[in-house]
Amino acid sequence: MTAPATAHGLLSGLDEIADIGRDARRGGYSRHLWQPADLELRDWFTGRAVRLGLDVEIDRNGNTWAWWGPRGDDAIVVGSHLDSVPGGGAYDGPLGVVSALEAIYRLQASGFRPARPCAVLVFAEEEGSRFGIACLGSRLMTGALDAGRARALVDADGISLEAAASAAGIDPAGLGEDRAALARIGLFLELHVEQGRGLIDLGSPVAVASSILAHGRWRITFTGEGNHAGATRMTDRRDPMLAAARSMLAVRDAAVASTGSRATIGRIEAVPGGTNVISSQVTVWLDARAAEDAAAQDLVTEITARVSAAAAAEGCTAVVAEESWSGAVAFDEALRDRLVHSLHGVPTLPTGAGHDAGVLSSRLPTAMIFVRNPTGVSHSPEEFATLDDCLAGVAALEQVLRELL
Ligand code: GLV
Ligand code: MN
Ligand code: MN
Ligand code: MN
Repeated sequence: MTAPATAHGLLSGLDEIADIGRDARRGGYSRHLWQPADLELRDWFTGRAVRLGLDVEIDRNGNTWAWWGPRGDDAIVVGSHLDSVPGGGAYDGPLGVVSALEAIYRLQASGFRPARPCAVLVFAEEEGSRFGIACLGSRLMTGALDAGRARALVDADGISLEAAASAAGIDPAGLGEDRAALARIGLFLELHVEQGRGLIDLGSPVAVASSILAHGRWRITFTGEGNHAGATRMTDRRDPMLAAARSMLAVRDAAVASTGSRATIGRIEAVPGGTNVISSQVTVWLDARAAEDAAAQDLVTEITARVSAAAAAEGCTAVVAEESWSGAVAFDEALRDRLVHSLHGVPTLPTGAGHDAGVLSSRLPTAMIFVRNPTGVSHSPEEFATLDDCLAGVAALEQVLRELL
């Protein structure tokens, strides 16, 4: 393992969690809400925070706060998340959490004392990998996700969010908009590994975020006729797998035709899912994104039409249902400019990835710092950041906190 970067150690933090939630089958990490790896990461975070003298609390929605000094309203809050996509990388989420702790450690070590309340905040289920809704903790906090709908969400094992919350010691009745928590946040800063090639192209280790694409998730259910793989003539079939296959190409074609848009089918489930069985139902999940809200909505309208035609061509039906939606985000301009100035004119960069800082931006000023990812790959074990670039990110965060606090 890499040697710690400092006495306290940015990378020692990443090293300490390097074995938590490894996914031997997929590669990388699968760290999902309230499952053993997530609980172990929370314990690790609490231990690290307590070692810095921070005061840890978990809010009504399962987000973890660590306060430096007295709790209070209008705090400078800095954080990210510790959960991952299935088979994700080591940096998406944890780099922001480890960097926040490291920046506070450095400020403490230099004798700095904050004049404003300050907390590190770790959001629950940013990736939506267990219950399907990305940025679950911040959506619940802001009220963007209805608590009743959240309680009824079900994971792949049929466990409801309500039951999973109870098992993790969170009262499901307390889930939902948390105005007291929002009042505590004067502004929110999130450092994140970059998820594309922007900083490679710019030749810079860090950037300040300018915007996030509009994005959402849709569940598409194809229904046909389950039957025997050997006994059913090819001409007699209504196979929803073929409807899904035609649709995937149509999704790609629709996105290509809509300049700058992105559309992905990354997940598929067949019922009943047997090699010698023609499926009765196939469900795929669509992730669609575009620079403007209207462009993303138009893309999904176009995809819905193409998917219906693809299903009809196979004698099947298709139902498209929205699971979540996030409008395009333009980060607070004054805060963004302030960060760029503090960081001596680092570039600004848009992103196609969603973040809790984007969800919170509808309620309060938020800003993000991106750290270069030399592979340009994310949501994959290939995601990476060099030690030098991670240290540049921490130095940037420390500098910004020193000015804001
Ligand atoms: C989360 O990282 C997302 O953009 O889907
Ligand atoms: Mn992610
Ligand atoms: Mn992330
Ligand atoms: Mn994200």
